[in-house]
Amino acid sequence: MDGNGRWASQRGLPRVMGHRAGVEALRKIIEVSLDIRLKYLTIYAFSTENWKRPTNEVKALMGLLVEYIERELVDLHQKGIKIKPIGDLTALPPKVLVKVEEAVKRTKQNQKLVLQIALNYGGRKEILNAVQKIAQQVAIREIAPTEINEALITEYLYTKGIPEPDLLIRTAGELRLSNFLLWQTAYTEFWFTDVFWPEFTPEHFSQAIKDYAQRQRRFGGLQEN
Ligand code: FPP
Repeated sequence: MDGNGRWASQRGLPRVMGHRAGVEALRKIIEVSLDIRLKYLTIYAFSTENWKRPTNEVKALMGLLVEYIERELVDLHQKGIKIKPIGDLTALPPKVLVKVEEAVKRTKQNQKLVLQIALNYGGRKEILNAVQKIAQQVAIREIAPTEINEALITEYLYTKGIPEPDLLIRTAGELRLSNFLLWQTAYTEFWFTDVFWPEFTPEHFSQAIKDYAQRQRRFGGLQEN
């Protein structure tokens, strides 16, 4: 959801107002996702590196998340949305953790759309965490080193059970992966736009999906007839 800060600065507003506008943009994108029967939507809400931001911005982002859950949980639940955080949740402030856990518990049976929220998420940390857990299993001889394969590693990621993303959208002219879903995006299609996230509309989303539909995905193989 890049560009919230720049969107606000351009208007002489505090950065947090940009994040607030970003939440509004997100709401519309979730609506369209339901309309088009998308099954999985992952949003990068807070990275392991975002702690480096000024304390007031970190606090504001955490506050926005709490506010969002408090305000939207009933509606999200009624719409059949399953909230699934990915990331190291242990480092979240207790008040945030409680709200996130409540959202997970309330929506866990929902099946229309899985909304994965990357929270204190880092792709390297996710892989490291998987490696440590697998190593523990090897140490107690539950797993033989020869049994470690790609499928097994996938099982130990936060995204276990969720398909790899087909399409990754990056806004605000950023052309990096920024530690997002490093393992899972090996064959993901990328779509970039200069539009700041608060100005990212359902029309932009449709365009991204239309462009995606034109791509030929070969997964390293040859194009099928
Ligand atoms: C990137 O823009 C945006 C973020 C790091 C935070 C996104 C989080 C929210 C919109 C709120 C909380 C989430 C939910 C699910 C309610 P930036 O700040 O890097 O903007 P810039 O690149 O213009 O500085």
